[in-house]
Amino acid sequence: MPEKKPHIIICSDLPGKSDQLSLALAEDYHLTNINTTDTLLDISYQQLPDVIIININLNKVGGFKACEQLKSNEATVDIPVIFISEIFDETDTIKAFNAGAVDYMKYAFHQKELRARIRNHLMLKQSRENLKKKNQLLTSTMSKENERLQQLMEATIRAIVQTVESRDPYTAGHQQRVSDLSYEIAKVMALDASQKMAIKYAGILHDIGKLRVPDAILNRPGKLLSIEFDVLKIHPQIGSDILDTVPSPWPLSRIILEHHERLDGSGYPNGITSDNMLIESKVIAVADVMEAMSSHRPYRPSQGIDLALEEINNQKGLLYDEQTVDTCTHLFVKGNYKFGW
Ligand SMILES: [Fe+2]
Repeated sequence: MPEKKPHIIICSDLPGKSDQLSLALAEDYHLTNINTTDTLLDISYQQLPDVIIININLNKVGGFKACEQLKSNEATVDIPVIFISEIFDETDTIKAFNAGAVDYMKYAFHQKELRARIRNHLMLKQSRENLKKKNQLLTSTMSKENERLQQLMEATIRAIVQTVESRDPYTAGHQQRVSDLSYEIAKVMALDASQKMAIKYAGILHDIGKLRVPDAILNRPGKLLSIEFDVLKIHPQIGSDILDTVPSPWPLSRIILEHHERLDGSGYPNGITSDNMLIESKVIAVADVMEAMSSHRPYRPSQGIDLALEEINNQKGLLYDEQTVDTCTHLFVKGNYKFGW
């Protein structure tokens, strides 16, 4: 099969000049001649030529404008545009290059030079297209690899969570439910993508520090003694220390450390106040209380969603972040949100 000739659109309202160009290029290129810049855009969008040559002598503004429009359209941005003129005019040359042209020539050209210039522009265009294809391939490979790594990370996290929760059957699924609610709250609050991912993963792992809390305390029926509660209160620090050793793009260690802190400084382990807490930690704190109060515990039955909502609203702005509480309340009351028990 004969090789397909590259396609050039020649836009000139000077018939003699078009012929001059056609004569020089007809052998190597498939040519389309048009005689006004008015139709140049439509024809270029339809035919997507390999090169466009625009005569600059008449309707200069139309030519520059058409070039600018071609360069602002994704389909035609990479098509080399060459302006050709009877005279060399410095102002026009600058305008042509500013409009996105790759070359500016005079009609008094040598045919070999014209063909050589066009060949070079075509080679550059081809190189750009090859680069673009390689880039797309690389991006798609990377995004598949990222997806695979994310699946691997999530499976690992699930395995860790199951290990933690197997020691504390009363809270099985608690971290997942806190993560799910926190993530929904973060979405409605329009937190950025990185904050949402941080909340999702910190939510799933927030009680990982309970690995170091003795079974006897985790599974003790009835209310904990003060000394036992002191032991339980180490779990945010332990969890934070564990996550500190894991490289992560998100501040998981800090969020886990802060998930039992309260705005007024009455939380633990460090008693920090609102200004020193991350919003991610404030969201997880609210979701954690909602889930914990709604669930059955060895020392008490479920207190129900309504009581949990009452608690976070009573303490809104005092212990819990105002916007988070409002968003959470809206999700349950208007959005009919339900925990996936
Ligand atoms: Fe906790």
